[in-house]
Amino acid sequence: MTARILDGKAIANAIRQEISVEVSTFREKFSTSPKLVAVLVGEDPASQVYVRNKEIACQKSGIESDIRRLSATTTTEELLAALDALNADSSVHGILVQLPLPDIIDARRVLDRIDPKKDVDAFSPENVGLMFQGRPRFLPCTPHGVMQLLDRCEIAIQGKEVVVVGRSDIVGKPLVSLCLQKNGPRGPSNANATVTCCHSQTHELAQITRRADILLVAIGKPNWVTASMVKPGAVVVDIGINRLGDRLVGDVDFDSVSQVASAITPVPGGVGPLTIAMLLENTLRAAEQQLSSPSKL
Ligand code: GUN
Repeated sequence: MTARILDGKAIANAIRQEISVEVSTFREKFSTSPKLVAVLVGEDPASQVYVRNKEIACQKSGIESDIRRLSATTTTEELLAALDALNADSSVHGILVQLPLPDIIDARRVLDRIDPKKDVDAFSPENVGLMFQGRPRFLPCTPHGVMQLLDRCEIAIQGKEVVVVGRSDIVGKPLVSLCLQKNGPRGPSNANATVTCCHSQTHELAQITRRADILLVAIGKPNWVTASMVKPGAVVVDIGINRLGDRLVGDVDFDSVSQVASAITPVPGGVGPLTIAMLLENTLRAAEQQLSSPSKL
């Protein structure tokens, strides 16, 4: 079997086009643009690229954006003060703090300080709780991108055995929650799965991954899932991005797994582009919510 390639880049482009149209309508209605501010602390090269890509994507879809660059010696208190100012600025609708933060900063306190109504990463306890209860304000960008990808490729997960490999707060845990819901971002067929989550302490992990109809991998280890861990005909979504020499590779060994899976995402060009598309969507929704009911803020 040679797997169908799930083209995340093309799907992300389609979503970005839909968002651009909605942003135009928003601008006509409110005579202003949705605005995102990304806070970047320090000089981490990968973070600089990610934040720059987010800025370019915003510009292309008509969303205003600003990068607030702070030095690597910024203290937690200084960062909290910068967030307080952004929370209070009504022209800013979405705020994100690019991770990872330097070790001297208390990341939990920082993320907790972002106004949940502007928390377009959906990392705050309030937004995580709303998502778990099935009444989301925003969905976290990468897990939401995975759900969009599956549905737009006409892969229903309802009643299927989904195995998530990885339990991070940003990807693994929210993916488990989204797959379990009664209703997904694209309807009931985009939810209602039977979900198992594997992690570093899981025994006999390959036995579990081999049960999966849909295998979602976010473990952060290059080429870690091999063909023997995948059921023939499974759909495999690779959410990893790892640098191997001068190449970017996923968490899934693409060459071997694409021989047994029925469908697979490439890296790059799979889930990555969808993360940015969903950030644009969250920024637009944040702006709509704030301008439609400003008195509730
Ligand atoms: N670093 C890696 N992924 C992310 C993300 O989705 N959001 C933020 N803020 N930082 C990240």
